[in-house]
Amino acid sequence: MPPPSPQIIILDAGGQYCHLIARRVRELGVYAEVRRSDVPAAELKSARGIIISGGPSSVYDDNSPRIDVNLLNGHAAVLGICYGLQLMAQAVGAEVTPGSKGEYGLATLTFEEGAQDSPLLAGLTNAQQVWMSHKDVVATVPPGFSRTGSTATCAVAVLEEPKRALYGVQFHPEVVHTTDGRKLLSNFVFGIAGCSRDWDPVHQPADIESRIRAAVGQRNVFFFVSGGVDSTVAFTLCLRALGPGRVRGVYVDTGLMRDGETRAVEQMFTRLGGDVVVEHSSREFLDALAGARDPEVKRGIIGEAFVAVQERIVESQHLLDGQWILGQGTIYPDTIESGGTAQAAVIKTHHNRVEGIQKLIADGRIVEPLSSYYKDEVRAIGAHLGLPAEYLDRHPFPGPGLAIRCLCSDVDAPMTPRGEAFLLPVRSVGVQGDFRTYAPVLATPEYPSRTANLQSAATELVNNSGEINRVIALVDSVAPLAEMRVWASSVTPERIRRLREADRIVREMSHASGFDREIWQFPVVLIPAGIEGCRDSIVLRPVDSIDGMTAQSVSMDEESLGAMADCLLKVEGIAAVFYDLTHKPPATIEWE
Ligand code: XMP
Repeated sequence: MPPPSPQIIILDAGGQYCHLIARRVRELGVYAEVRRSDVPAAELKSARGIIISGGPSSVYDDNSPRIDVNLLNGHAAVLGICYGLQLMAQAVGAEVTPGSKGEYGLATLTFEEGAQDSPLLAGLTNAQQVWMSHKDVVATVPPGFSRTGSTATCAVAVLEEPKRALYGVQFHPEVVHTTDGRKLLSNFVFGIAGCSRDWDPVHQPADIESRIRAAVGQRNVFFFVSGGVDSTVAFTLCLRALGPGRVRGVYVDTGLMRDGETRAVEQMFTRLGGDVVVEHSSREFLDALAGARDPEVKRGIIGEAFVAVQERIVESQHLLDGQWILGQGTIYPDTIESGGTAQAAVIKTHHNRVEGIQKLIADGRIVEPLSSYYKDEVRAIGAHLGLPAEYLDRHPFPGPGLAIRCLCSDVDAPMTPRGEAFLLPVRSVGVQGDFRTYAPVLATPEYPSRTANLQSAATELVNNSGEINRVIALVDSVAPLAEMRVWASSVTPERIRRLREADRIVREMSHASGFDREIWQFPVVLIPAGIEGCRDSIVLRPVDSIDGMTAQSVSMDEESLGAMADCLLKVEGIAAVFYDLTHKPPATIEWE
């Protein structure tokens, strides 16, 4: 059975948060889907409401995403968000002014005349926090519209025209940093578009199972399981849909997993009653990665190695006789950040979206039961299936494993002083506006508890600098920062072992203190910065997040952190322990 016909359609104008909007609407209990922004209005007739997403473009760019203006004729309610507002406002006669510097971060929304009668702002508090990420602004109020909200730097932050049910906001109601964002979306979905509740992922398993049976037909499903929540839930759904004889799994030990992971995964699938065997392939992955430094190169190598291992297994186990197809635990965000939507800018290439896998998808030899669900929807489904909380509550761990936390450098290079801090020439991935950045890091010599509010200062530093995309603070080291340098380095078995040991220490200590239950994820990153004989350092990257799309750097209490740093400095080859202070955006969670 297909999902219900979407009452809300989100038009993808290229924004990183396009699917997040869909997810927020689904959280309200209303099924929403995403379409290309330029889909003809005639194809949107069944929707009650249309939301035009944000996006990185300017309405003045050649080839910037467009909409069919006929959808503004009052047939369905429309909400434009950020670029979506600008697109709508321009279409109805407003002036949009190109901005140069842009505004990224928190702002305060002030109500303007008419706000008290606005169905969009009903129940919202005046002077509440909103989150902005834009360059251009709407400069004039289009005929027939009223302006009901503004911020200090954005005069037209809310626009409305109730006759045709056209609404627009410059800020992002879908991100958690907009305090009343959920309320605003709920006003649009129920109060303005008149939707009714028709969606609850907990009631989905039976439907998903019948979709699996329809997709698989008489064939059997073969899974590469990772032990993570997504592939475990997807595997379990297939097991329920098809029965144990028809679902088989292989766990590939890439040599890039965490300490003890292989054993834990074997035990887990034994308990679930699934037929899962371990393929020991560390040699193959580590050999292929020898000399690799660039994040996208590393991801490409890992993706291809996965495909090679997979093809070998498929062949050796005679799985190609038309009887088997590939099952995957792909979830929505895996496709979003690879540019999986029509127009989203490519931030990262996820390993399960490289060419080899794409070919399998094109051949129709794949079943991805969770590809339209978000992490928390997957957890809810898993809980409903009766999977134990210890499986479902695991922190996400990226498929390419420790390789994307093992940072490299092409050259030996000194640190460059920047006031009291140092510019560290190790580049990591970040995301600003809707674009990927790859930039060096600023290292400050002090941990924030001794320097007030360094986390917001970090975001400001990144936004203003144009040179860096992260700020880290030194927790402890075997030598002063000024004596350290960055060393030419690549992914090697020795560095992966070092990182795995550090990761084990951090996991054990944060589990013992309970800190791991307070946060979303705790990446431990190895960077090639140190002194002769001790050439690497560790960066601790604990973050809180709802969905991984945005994240906040989380502080640790000084005592636990000190104890952790002591233990980490005892690991062979580690010269220093740093703490990543940067939120996402402007940084990403992983360093790559
Ligand atoms: P970023 O680094 O983009 O990460 O802020 C967002 C979330 O995605 C996870 N991640 C991955 N997960 N395969 C995965 O299965 C990948 O290639 C991958 N890259 C990032 C990351 O750990 C975080 O939870």
